[in-house]
Amino acid sequence: MKFRSSKRAAAVQYPIRDIVVEAKKVAAQGKKIYYLNIGDPLAYDFRTPRHLWDAVNAHQKEGECYSPSEGIPEAREAIAADYRKKGIETEAKNVMIGNGLSELIWFAMGAVADPGESVLLPRPTYPLYVSACDYLYIKPAFYNLAEENNWEPDVEGIRRKITERTKAISIVNPNNPCGSNYSRQTLEEIAGIANEHDLVILADEIYDMQLLKKKKHTQMASLAKDLPVLSMNGLSKNFFATGFRVGWIAANKFLAENSDLMDSILRLGRARLCSVHPFQYAVKPALEGPMDFLEENLKKIRERQEFSHKRLNEIEGISCVEPEASFYAFPKIELKIRSDKEFVMELLRETGVCVVFGEGFGQKDGTHHFRIVALPSVEILGEAFDQLEGFIKKHYK
Ligand SMILES: Cc1ncc(COP(=O)(O)O)c(C=O)c1O
Repeated sequence: MKFRSSKRAAAVQYPIRDIVVEAKKVAAQGKKIYYLNIGDPLAYDFRTPRHLWDAVNAHQKEGECYSPSEGIPEAREAIAADYRKKGIETEAKNVMIGNGLSELIWFAMGAVADPGESVLLPRPTYPLYVSACDYLYIKPAFYNLAEENNWEPDVEGIRRKITERTKAISIVNPNNPCGSNYSRQTLEEIAGIANEHDLVILADEIYDMQLLKKKKHTQMASLAKDLPVLSMNGLSKNFFATGFRVGWIAANKFLAENSDLMDSILRLGRARLCSVHPFQYAVKPALEGPMDFLEENLKKIRERQEFSHKRLNEIEGISCVEPEASFYAFPKIELKIRSDKEFVMELLRETGVCVVFGEGFGQKDGTHHFRIVALPSVEILGEAFDQLEGFIKKHYK
């Protein structure tokens, strides 16, 4: 090919969206599709809280120009104050707002490691971290999440993956795709390892309000006060505003005082001018305003997650750990199959049930999974799981 793409760009994959290409083909043949693949409540029967829209609409004039690169001051102040309430020492000057957390993950990964250096990622993982590694020539080192232990990180496994080139450890808690909410003890142990090996901690906590059980969420930076931690969050999931594209990253006091990492992240931010301006006005009202929408939405998610968990475990050949947070679950396929990608593609073509194959997130060697989102109504979920059960009975008797 004459005008060939760079290798680094050609290497980037994003499997969560790859399945959509196949789903469109199946839908074009007139088949009903059961979309259990989209991690976006707004694509289902959830709405962005009204007061967030009101705040955006009230600032149309201010929002028309570029914003400061690091974000508008009132939003950064509100984010820093919110972190302080959660026991994390930080200040507005160490907070940056991005076009979704996605953009900031690229910046953070680019700032923590040089080509050839390594970042520890969970397996399964949110695939964007792998994409960033591929593009930036960072070597991902995967530590397993232990299915038999409610998908908590295998802490001893982390230790075994550390080399002199390891710069940082990424945690996603609550977890996508597994729905786990790590125990305080696990987080303390991870902090201990980071301390021993001088690792920066990247704490993606974008689902930290989406708690389904009584178990509380522990912010990594509230435990690891004497370690460098970048806490990451945003409006997308907790505030049901994926379309607003507002995410943030905050350096804790220790990181701000002992590293130039946040300076680099802010510099990368300046190079892209700014984050979408009008939607940043929703941050302060989100963090300081009414929260009744959350309990209402969580009630629906809880019901759908509980139904999915029960129904999936009734299907012979499928087992599913009960999710504690978020709207995801990562059921295991306990059938003789070669690849879960093949299984999921065939399921989609034959029944219209669209889930994401486990290979797309990575998984412990020799195991097969798929990810569901428990966001459709119980009725739709029920139909989808009936289809899955029929498919398994037909092909794997
Ligand atoms: C774990 C995790 N981190 C980050 C993101 C990106 O969120 P956004 O770019 O919408 O802020 C997602 C989205 O699905 C996610 O699941």
